[in-house]
Amino acid sequence: MSAQALDARIGAGGTAASTESAASQSAGPLVSAMDLAKTFDVSPPLLNRILERKPRVLLHAVDGVSFTIERGKTLALVGESGCGKSTVARLLVGLYPPSRGGFRFDNIDAHAAFKTAAGRVLRRRIQMIFQDPYASLNPRWIVEDIIGEPLREHGILKQGAALKSRVGELLSSVGLSPLDMVKYPHQFSGGQRQRISIARALATEPEFLVCDEPTSALDVSVQAQVLNIMKDLQRERGLTYLFISHNLAVVRHVADQVGVMYLGRLVEVADKQLLFATPQHPYTRMLLDAIPQMKHTGRSRTPVQGEVPNPLNPPSGCTFHPRCPLANERCKVERPALQMLRGVRVACHAVEENRD
Ligand SMILES: Nc1ncnc2c1ncn2[C@@H]1O[C@H](COP(=O)(O)OP(=O)(O)OP(=O)(O)O)[C@@H](O)[C@H]1O
Ligand code: SF4
Ligand SMILES: [Mg+2]
Repeated sequence: MSAQALDARIGAGGTAASTESAASQSAGPLVSAMDLAKTFDVSPPLLNRILERKPRVLLHAVDGVSFTIERGKTLALVGESGCGKSTVARLLVGLYPPSRGGFRFDNIDAHAAFKTAAGRVLRRRIQMIFQDPYASLNPRWIVEDIIGEPLREHGILKQGAALKSRVGELLSSVGLSPLDMVKYPHQFSGGQRQRISIARALATEPEFLVCDEPTSALDVSVQAQVLNIMKDLQRERGLTYLFISHNLAVVRHVADQVGVMYLGRLVEVADKQLLFATPQHPYTRMLLDAIPQMKHTGRSRTPVQGEVPNPLNPPSGCTFHPRCPLANERCKVERPALQMLRGVRVACHAVEENRD
């Protein structure tokens, strides 16, 4: 979706609001990821490895990602396909154990908790919305069963009138009718199906929603509707979002903070206004320059160049160096650390050396 199309449909403002009540619950961020990493073993089968004398092959999908999200706020993660966004999402909802590092949720060590009985409570408090509402809803179930499942699963409501009434409330909260609960997923449009997914995610009254490209599969006008519903729900309920998108025009409307990922690492984390007004990392600049309607900041434009390298054989030093117009010898050998520079967190030697 273009920046202008979204502007027109969502209207002015565009920031995801937080509620004062949620922000004042307790001090400190709701979510703190620390050196979060996930390595996949993508080696050929053992027998082939022995016969062909091939080594084990490891893919570092997420390699040391740290961030915090304040209550009631939205952190958006952006980056090209394969940079590790969905893997971060899956780590945060406990679908994957981390290979290194971890994250704290409301000061609880979440990955330790996921392994114990306390994990059940945590799973109620953290929910995920997936990209594809077609695939994530069971086609053989009516909506009442789909939205009622987490309520039954967590022992919140078992059955009967109370469950029906709660499902009706949840449908209303996403702009659907309680009468819709007797229908099957195929009887809804794509946007309506994603609203059903959101209603299901809200059933356990979570505080944190991990949204992995929730609107990417939808038409422009429908995307805007779903984004507006998500923003309203955030305002009403003080929800905290991790919002994943490859579309910076979408991110501009939903995020408070933006984290830019490249090959499994964060290369820039900044407040949304700063990121869009004064992007620091050459990769962030390249992503912004790819949006034609985005307001011009006065910098000369660098179109997106080159391909994302193979994550199985990442470049040395700064992994962005083969595509970077500012790369020098240091960049080829020394990996830049994410550090506070110019009011943002950025991993780039050129920014550190003021030669950008
Ligand atoms: N279960 C898995 N086993 C092996 N490799 C995986 C697995 N899941 C992801 N990967 C690899 O990890 C890297 C990151 O994948 P991920 O799905 O997190 O990227 P993404 O940023 O979400 O991409 P997209 O924008 O296409 O959804 C990719 O190279 C991918 O091939
Ligand atoms: S560290 Fe070097 S190669 Fe990497 S983004 Fe900065 S200037 Fe470019
Ligand atoms: Mg993904």
